[in-house]
Amino acid sequence: MSKLPGNAGVSVLGDKSLEFYRDPVSFCRQRIDKHRSRVFVSRLLNRPTVFICSVEAMRELLCEKSNQFLKDPTDLMTNVYGDTIVTTNGEEACLLRLSFTSLFTGTRLESSSDYITSVCERCLKDLSVRDQPQCGYSVFKHLGTELVLGLFLNVRAEEQPELFEEISQLCTTHWHGLISAPINLKGPLWSSGFSTALDARDKLMDIVKDKLQNDKEGFVGHLGSLPLPDSRAAAQHLLLFISALIPKALASLLTSFTLALSGNEKEETRRRAKEDPDFLHRVLLEVQRLWPPFIGGRRLADQDSTLAGFLVPKDYGVVYISHAIHRDPEVFQEPDSFLPDRWSGRNAGQEHFLCSFGNGPRNCIGPKLTNVFLKEACTYLLEHYDWSLDPPDQDLQYKWLPVSRPADPPTISFTPTGCDTR
Ligand code: HEM
Repeated sequence: MSKLPGNAGVSVLGDKSLEFYRDPVSFCRQRIDKHRSRVFVSRLLNRPTVFICSVEAMRELLCEKSNQFLKDPTDLMTNVYGDTIVTTNGEEACLLRLSFTSLFTGTRLESSSDYITSVCERCLKDLSVRDQPQCGYSVFKHLGTELVLGLFLNVRAEEQPELFEEISQLCTTHWHGLISAPINLKGPLWSSGFSTALDARDKLMDIVKDKLQNDKEGFVGHLGSLPLPDSRAAAQHLLLFISALIPKALASLLTSFTLALSGNEKEETRRRAKEDPDFLHRVLLEVQRLWPPFIGGRRLADQDSTLAGFLVPKDYGVVYISHAIHRDPEVFQEPDSFLPDRWSGRNAGQEHFLCSFGNGPRNCIGPKLTNVFLKEACTYLLEHYDWSLDPPDQDLQYKWLPVSRPADPPTISFTPTGCDTR
């Protein structure tokens, strides 16, 4: 068994969290180059932490050894969302997954498809009307919010605009608590972001509980009737499902999709994606490979174990870095190039080497819903518009936290298909 490359440093002084959160991609790239290894150790959240940047080690962590590397019940997610499936382990997590999976697959998913189509049409139909470049990310985030609040809470923007607006605002405030320091301070004139977020959470919980009690239709009705472990579980999970996280992740993917296919030089790629659903599928795989919305996920070693042949002591943290895993040159040739056809060639059938939605028994429960939504939104864009960056020379440097997207939101001109974009 070999010793992990890298250095876990001393407590507090050796902590690298700030450096990591500032630029996680450079953080990993530098260490991969320095240690010549895609698995290394550093100190994150003041805990010795193993960084996983290869496909093989990711599969070992999330699949084969998923019972040795567990979710952290004290994760910040628990502070903000309360006890949910995301930070639960063992039998309880299995039971919750069983219950929720039925909500996001099969007939429940099919019954959502008309709503998904109508939301995409309403939010995307006016992109060219004002004859001005649009901030794609904002439009797509609004679209994601309409989708989530309509599907999960039966609150539709066109029917209840004020309630929709109120919940959207509360979700945004609540979300900011996730990324602010967890200090619950409140004064007469000032309150910390975290405390404001907790207030927003309480208001959201009131709305959510009211819905669960009084609305017997659709997703919320079904959730209310599930056999969950305690009376708070349905409300806490509904809060998680309507949170700003999901719209942001959807907006991240749609933004990366529009950027990857923008401009006259991508006209042929857009045409192929419009005419061939299989090619669109490959485009979307390549978009999530290069620009996964979330940088990765975290686990704790529940016992002494190994990863990629390196000893990982009990209580070490382990993070898998999707961005680096998806560019592992052992699996993906020309890893930094956008090559959708790799998914029908060398990488055919290797979707399970991606981890944008996690991997293994604790993967995301929403990829089917996400897929239906993305295909609907992308097909709408492809059928109705050509698009290009406007102005053409924008800085598209990505930031990776909290979700991946260009640090300066790009503006894009959409023109109805058939019009000359030159
Ligand atoms: C673009 C959209 C989405 C992305 C990129 C995404 C990504 C992820 C990732 C990476 C994980 C695994 C985290 C880990 O390994 O620790 C995860 C877990 C999860 N996701 Fe998603 N997700 C998306 C949409 C959704 C949707 C639509 C839902 C349903 C409302 C959902 C519900 C969940 C839940 C409940 C878990 C926890 C599963 C568990 O711990 O067993 N996600 N998601």
